[in-house]
Amino acid sequence: MLIEIPAIFSPEETAGIRARLEQAGWRDGAGTAGHVAARAKTNLQLADNDPLGAEIGAEIVARLAATPRFVASAVPLRILPPRFNLYAGGGAYGRHIDSAVFSAPGTRERVRSDLSATLFLSDPESYDGGELVAEFGVGRQQVKLPAGHLLLYPANSLHQVMPVVRGARLAAFFWIQSLVRSHARRALLLELDDSIQTLAARDMADPEVVRLTGLYHNLLREWAET
Ligand code: NI
Repeated sequence: MLIEIPAIFSPEETAGIRARLEQAGWRDGAGTAGHVAARAKTNLQLADNDPLGAEIGAEIVARLAATPRFVASAVPLRILPPRFNLYAGGGAYGRHIDSAVFSAPGTRERVRSDLSATLFLSDPESYDGGELVAEFGVGRQQVKLPAGHLLLYPANSLHQVMPVVRGARLAAFFWIQSLVRSHARRALLLELDDSIQTLAARDMADPEVVRLTGLYHNLLREWAET
């Protein structure tokens, strides 16, 4: 399931991030792909230890933590520091599946990638191509979101970034280990949470809201891995 989380950053904030990233030291992105993925990848990336990338990445993670829709959708345990990429001049990333386990930079910690995330930073009208295409069995979904919007998708899905044939596509990308590893269970929790929010908006004092909230937490207790 693909989940869009709108307006993580406002258009003004996103423009500010873009302006800062334009000053950054971009380099060939193939160096950071796995052996097979590298052959499919033509883009520019910031180095993992780039200070500007680290600074903006920390701002992104802080904002995510303060975004209830993100927390409800991802049920995050660990979020890897965001990385940044830039596609232009026909740059693309062919069909691949992301690596399963990443080392958290500067630590001995390993993070399992349950969810992949792309934070779109360029205005969609400013470039052609660059859609993220994810495949699920026989189906496929193609997504290009407004600047400041986040796409969450299962990290075990085959996906690609279509060639950017005009303009430039700037994005942050990162991986999340969820407390709930199963995509199906996480989807059930999100649906339950949505229902609770709707009921609570109608009548906060409804005893069924208390009961369903308890059910939510007890399901999470059954399913959470820390
Ligand atoms: Ni990928």
